[in-house]
Amino acid sequence: MSGSSDLQLTRIALNNGSCSMPALGCGTLISDAAATKSATLAALAAGFRHFDCAERYQNEREVGEALQIGLSAAGITRADIFVTTKLWNSNHRPERVEPAFNASLNRLGLEYLDLYLIHTPFAFQPGDDQDPRDQNGNIIYDNGVTLLDTWRAMESLIDHGRCRAIGLSDISLKELLPIYESARIKPAVVQVEAHPYLPETELLEFCKKKGIVFLAFAPLGHGMRPGLLEDPIILAIAARVGKTPAQVLLAWAVQRGTAVLTTPKTAARARENFDISALPEDAFDEINRISTRKRLNEVVKTGVPGFIPRAG
Ligand SMILES: NC(=O)c1ccc[n+]([C@@H]2O[C@H](COP(=O)([O-])OP(=O)(O)OC[C@H]3O[C@@H](n4cnc5c(N)ncnc54)[C@H](OP(=O)(O)O)[C@@H]3O)[C@@H](O)[C@H]2O)c1
Repeated sequence: MSGSSDLQLTRIALNNGSCSMPALGCGTLISDAAATKSATLAALAAGFRHFDCAERYQNEREVGEALQIGLSAAGITRADIFVTTKLWNSNHRPERVEPAFNASLNRLGLEYLDLYLIHTPFAFQPGDDQDPRDQNGNIIYDNGVTLLDTWRAMESLIDHGRCRAIGLSDISLKELLPIYESARIKPAVVQVEAHPYLPETELLEFCKKKGIVFLAFAPLGHGMRPGLLEDPIILAIAARVGKTPAQVLLAWAVQRGTAVLTTPKTAARARENFDISALPEDAFDEINRISTRKRLNEVVKTGVPGFIPRAG
């Protein structure tokens, strides 16, 4: 299969009716400032209209600068893109939520956010140190705040009008349920690691039932090799349909009804990752039958970000 299809333009409506999210999104987990800018510009030029940021990535300023330049270069406006950023673990105390939100908006140079996420359900010692550790090198957690306390402060951001939707990230179904039950404003989006080796089917089914957008990160297995990009089933399907392994994995994610974030760092990769087309049903089913199970990022267990280094 070649050429483009409507898949790349798929949008998913948010459950609060505020707006819709382009299913194919661009992540900004890039450590280098110059690379962040060039990748963001290239993604906009390739057609991406959904950008995922985080105060933890320490590059919101660079993303914001690139968006400003890229929007006018592409002849579009702020309203044409969907921008998310995330509250970090050291800002879970309710009184820290709005200042953290305002600081992110300020660094991004934006007037409002489409989506603000609690980055992880783990509260760290409140303060400006994003990685507070004791003398033994262990993370200092904060037992003085619950996830529901933080969620209530997130709800207030919606009331104040500069944020269209709120959600959670790196959360299990078990942790999500009590928040969902108690929330005055229900989560609009849940962002978690998901790919054919970690389909998170139970969470996805719950999200579909409740109208929550399931937003997958690491759809290409974070580019780790050996990994998904070299999986024999993915390679065979890619050859059969005339697409690259990355395009097959991204198409599968959108076809199963999720939104997805990928991180192309060059213009060529941005064009490649945006150029996705629907997979034939037999290929889609074949990917669903992959039985390998592997989590690549431990953040969901500890709140400490990081992909698990692979041996060899
Ligand atoms: N909520 C969270 O805790 C959390 C955690 C992780 C990520 N995220 C978000 O999700 C976004 C996406 O995650 P991710 O970076 O893991 O996504 P990904 O798309 O699975 O992995 C990106 C890596 O794959 C490689 N790659 C990209 N396009 C490729 C292509 N066409 N062919 C071959 N390799 C390709 C690149 O690696 P090389 O540059 O090494 O080639 C790139 O760094 C992040 O940017 C971030 O916004 C959120």
